[in-house]
Amino acid sequence: MCNHFLPLEEALEKRKQAGILRTLRSRKEGVDFYSNNYLGFAKNKTFLKLLLKTVQENPELLEGSTGSRLISGNTSVVTETEEFITKEHQYESALLFPSGYNANLALFAALPNRHDTVIVDEKIHRSVHDACKMSNAKKIKFRHNDCGHLEDILKRQQGTVYIAIESLYSMDGDFSPISEIADLAVKYNAALIVDEAHAFGVFGYGLVDRFHLQKNVLATVVTYGKALGTHGAAVLTNDMIKSYLINFASSFIYTTAAHDFLWMSIRKGYEFLNENNTAPVQLQKNINIFRRGNIKSPSDENSPIQAIIIPDNHQLKMLAETLSDNGFLIYPIFSPTVKEGTERLRICLHSFNTEEEIVMLTKIINEFI
Ligand SMILES: Cc1ncc(COP(=O)(O)O)c(C=O)c1O
Repeated sequence: MCNHFLPLEEALEKRKQAGILRTLRSRKEGVDFYSNNYLGFAKNKTFLKLLLKTVQENPELLEGSTGSRLISGNTSVVTETEEFITKEHQYESALLFPSGYNANLALFAALPNRHDTVIVDEKIHRSVHDACKMSNAKKIKFRHNDCGHLEDILKRQQGTVYIAIESLYSMDGDFSPISEIADLAVKYNAALIVDEAHAFGVFGYGLVDRFHLQKNVLATVVTYGKALGTHGAAVLTNDMIKSYLINFASSFIYTTAAHDFLWMSIRKGYEFLNENNTAPVQLQKNINIFRRGNIKSPSDENSPIQAIIIPDNHQLKMLAETLSDNGFLIYPIFSPTVKEGTERLRICLHSFNTEEEIVMLTKIINEFI
């Protein structure tokens, strides 16, 4: 009898043999150097109490949304939160999504059509690649953060062109030359879209805001599951693009809206962020402590993500195990999440890590490599 699933089983077996089979493990206790909870908000007692109090005073926030935003799910809480975010980021419009993945899917699947071109940094998040497939647009990769290469590609394009970058890259922990890329986008009349998943909250409202690039960027994606400690994302853009997404983005249209508690927690998250400006300062101090450990890393000296490239899978596993045995929670990243030969330990630093923990971490790593 023919086994239709043999190719699937073979693919899993291949991963197993290579030692890179992904499995779900229960959360362990330990010193957190792996989560995206950069500012500690996800477990901050004061923030959680604020959310609890908000729900106690407004229990209807927990009600199910009952339908998509276009039918019965468009509450006053979600629209008011969007208005608030629009003003905070000085954009014309904002559209909320239940996750950053969904937001990128909406943008890159709906905006480009099959005659258009999307030029992506080779290290752009998977959600953008997935969305490009859905749009059938021509996708061209430019070398990571290489403006010369991007310009060479831009010169050869005709028709509508989009450029996709992250402001702070999630796997390498380096910044994009965002102002130069915004200038190139203007020069070649291309539409720039910036994913700020890892910069938002850690660097104020992100780097588009910091460098006042709103006018030169078609859309910015900020996500709320990382520094803000909640969940969800917003596409910051103009009224026309917002309307286009509402009309044509499947990941916005064909899904039940999240409940109001999510939108309210985002709103409260902004308020909490603005009242707690010591957390990003403490995070920066901790990044400096880590960098003083003199570990070779391609990451920026100010980045909360510090990558240590260890292309030998066996050595990387051993180091991860040694760190785990010492009570540190750190996630090793293997291919295909990153390119083969660039496997790495991805260290996430947080405002709540102690100096002692960071010094101990760097000591163990230095002894190992
Ligand atoms: C750069 C980048 N964009 C988008 C996402 C997706 O965001 P979310 O986790 O909110 O779906 C992530 C999360 O891993 C990310 O790192």
